[in-house]
Amino acid sequence: MTVLVTGANGQLAAALRAILPPETLFSGRAGDILPHLDLSRPDEIAPALDKIVPNIIVNTAAYTAVDAAESDEETALAVNAHSVGEMGRWAFQHGAFVLHVSTDYVFDGTASRPYTEDTPIAPINSYGRSKAIGEQRLRESGASHAILRTSWLYGPAGRNFFVTMLRLARERDALRVVDDQMGSPTTTAVVAGAIHHMLRRRKTQDKSSAPSLEGTFHVTCHGQTTWHGFARAIFEGAVSRGLLDRMPRLEPVSTSEFPTSARRPAYSVLDPSKFERTFDYRLADWQYALDAVLDSLHP
Ligand SMILES: NC(=O)c1ccc[n+]([C@@H]2O[C@H](COP(=O)([O-])OP(=O)(O)OC[C@H]3O[C@@H](n4cnc5c(N)ncnc54)[C@H](OP(=O)(O)O)[C@@H]3O)[C@@H](O)[C@H]2O)c1
Repeated sequence: MTVLVTGANGQLAAALRAILPPETLFSGRAGDILPHLDLSRPDEIAPALDKIVPNIIVNTAAYTAVDAAESDEETALAVNAHSVGEMGRWAFQHGAFVLHVSTDYVFDGTASRPYTEDTPIAPINSYGRSKAIGEQRLRESGASHAILRTSWLYGPAGRNFFVTMLRLARERDALRVVDDQMGSPTTTAVVAGAIHHMLRRRKTQDKSSAPSLEGTFHVTCHGQTTWHGFARAIFEGAVSRGLLDRMPRLEPVSTSEFPTSARRPAYSVLDPSKFERTFDYRLADWQYALDAVLDSLHP
């Protein structure tokens, strides 16, 4: 059984590396990481997969630069949509399974209660559109697949809000953080744990139950907060563990005071209960998961 994880240098792939069996293959787009799989070149996906011949593809690679995607939609589409379709096509032809990671940004953020998997999608920025089309291409490919949507993803390293906040808190006395976008901060360890559990369930399932383990699932931590609330929790936890000398002053600001190229959904909370029911698996509360990340950095 060959399991291929794409996006080797990404934060979710790092968490998967810590938990999946050592024989798991991790592909990157360049450099020393072999095998190479460059998702900005959809035509090259099938020939590359012909050489790797995976039974399971866990696609964590993505064009995740949300603001840059506004002016580079073509690349975002190639990576997040067309290549995902190519993976699906290859998987369908070869009887492989695709576990694809998607995002809360497929929704428009106008809801006031957690989004379920059957809520119609309506992305409001290029990144969200490219991820939404990627989901669609995978479904249309006919491949056996699962789409896991997650949100506000972070881990102890990588490009994420948690790492940025800790760095800024060491550099500045005061920080202004958006307080009118609501979501569920979710750690890479929680999503990696859920993926590991899914893969083990697939291995042990009998054929008749296979279809019920496929489809679209929301995988996030429980609970919700704003970026401002998340920042405060990061700083309180970091100060109490000696990771920061002092609390910076935190000023809540509105999205309109913090303009970005890409619009952000105001409400991004996903309901993960379908995943928990289907896989008999409990996802952590966001504060508990944050404590685990802070503990891992404890000096
Ligand atoms: N971050 C979030 O808040 C968030 C929220 C919801 C969902 N998600 C989804 O979760 C998944 C994992 O995200 P993440 O936060 O782990 O992302 P990440 O840390 O930004 O990693 C993405 C990986 O994709 C790789 N990549 C980018 N363009 C590529 C290309 N053309 N060919 C091959 N690889 C390419 C990057 O390679 P390099 O290292 O070489 O750049 C990087 O290793 C993605 O599907 C993302 O859409 C993320």
